[in-house]
Amino acid sequence: MADPTAWWRDAVIYQVYPRSFADSDGDGIGDLGGIRAHLQHLAGLGVDAIWMSPWYPSPMADAGYDVADFRDIDPVFGTLAEAEALIRDAHAAGIRMIVDIVPNHISSAHAWFQKALADPDAPERELFWFRPGRGPEGDQLPTDWVGEFGGSTWTRTPDGAWYLHLFTPQQPDLNWDHPAVRAEFEDILRFWFDRGVDGIRIDSAALLFKDRDLPAVVEGRPHPFHDLDEVHDVYRAWRRVADEYPDRALIGEVWMPEVERFANYLRPDELHAAFNFDFLGCAWDATLMRECVDRTLDAHRTVGAPATWVLSNHDVTRHVTRYGRGTTTFSFENNLDGTPVDLELGTRRARAAALLSLSLPGATYLYQGEELGLWENENIPVERMQDPMYARRGHSRDGCRVPLPWSGDEPPFGFSATEPWLPQPAEWKDRTVQAQTGDRNSMLELYRSAIGLRRGESGLHTPDFAWLGDDAGVLSYRRGLDFACVLNMSPEAVALPDRHTVQLASSPLDGGRLPPDTAVWLRIPRT
Ligand code: GLC
Repeated sequence: MADPTAWWRDAVIYQVYPRSFADSDGDGIGDLGGIRAHLQHLAGLGVDAIWMSPWYPSPMADAGYDVADFRDIDPVFGTLAEAEALIRDAHAAGIRMIVDIVPNHISSAHAWFQKALADPDAPERELFWFRPGRGPEGDQLPTDWVGEFGGSTWTRTPDGAWYLHLFTPQQPDLNWDHPAVRAEFEDILRFWFDRGVDGIRIDSAALLFKDRDLPAVVEGRPHPFHDLDEVHDVYRAWRRVADEYPDRALIGEVWMPEVERFANYLRPDELHAAFNFDFLGCAWDATLMRECVDRTLDAHRTVGAPATWVLSNHDVTRHVTRYGRGTTTFSFENNLDGTPVDLELGTRRARAAALLSLSLPGATYLYQGEELGLWENENIPVERMQDPMYARRGHSRDGCRVPLPWSGDEPPFGFSATEPWLPQPAEWKDRTVQAQTGDRNSMLELYRSAIGLRRGESGLHTPDFAWLGDDAGVLSYRRGLDFACVLNMSPEAVALPDRHTVQLASSPLDGGRLPPDTAVWLRIPRT
């Protein structure tokens, strides 16, 4: 029976992208020393846990999602001893730690792949997807599968065989049919749980298995590598490992349009939670948003898992920018449509969205910098871009990965003593932690107040949820005894319910009415 009070059910979880959080050694790249030095920012914000994007040794072909050794820390970030110290510091500050595990692939620099490459007869070949090419010369791709970043999924080795990589050629896919792969990852989970880590974020969680016949991707037929049933067996085994320890959580990155298939990952003996990308991709539209919330809550209810609410992460356009465009949904192609961005509107909506995502039932994930109202840096010169997706798909995720502005009037804004690895917009001088602290109208103070209120609001820590009314363009719901949230997504100001007291508003009210693109948290006595 799932524990209804478990921490991960209603936590506020803050994603740290270590390259861009804070740099303590002056190389322009964030590191563990920087995170330890700024833990107070996270404690002050009131978050319950940190999810750390990969910090392992890596050639950084995909910003650390190409892992060469899961049991150590990349020297650019620090040492294993520092990671252990950070886990201790975070715990002392009342913050839990979640680490990112990437099971679908490893780095081509990983010892396993190096051995597999060096010798066609090496047993390590079986740990990957080596296949002969098609055609009499074997020089044609084994399949026409398109990679997750676009482009081909196969690379030929000097001995003539091809290997599969759903992402870049530097990220060979592991063969999850092989027992050694399963044993290795269970051991890696224990390695981190033994070090006190409270949870695991599972990268690309639905991609692990491939149809061994390598069929073509055909509409209407089972997909050869998305969401194969065998994957559930792995997560059941992982769950047994997690259950050997108290209070550990497994959180899947599961991009999946079909909610029933998504919910399968959250059955009581599988993952504890998974990211809700339906919500992240939803347009700024009350009807669609309400449908998304209903769909999400229904899907999770069937398996007894908590919903998650995510507005941004290190892969997607920051939501201040998304909500300031004509097209407010997310897709990687969005950035290319040339719609001008209205940052003032985007910021106003992002403020309202914060009150929405922090008051829906379940856990809320914040991506570093969203508490500062950062927008996507869409002016990074091509020669500074580092994301491998850019060359393959024409979209760079670098714009949401720009180092945080902490203080001062100009870049590097206290992030580093030198030029940061990606350029920061000069306009961020008003969005630094220092500039926003104490300014009651700032995004940072809104997040601090909202997370603080959430903590003390008992109704927000139960699954209790009911819509109040169904006015067009307005989302309005009650939680617990007397808490309500109203979000106006229509172009006109609307009246608020009778007998309310306002606890927090994302923008000033208009003589007691709720202006467009504004949310309020209210107390309403139940009649
Ligand atoms: C996930 C990560 C992304 C990475 C990819 C390959 O989607 O979030 O950043 O590029 O997996 O590991």
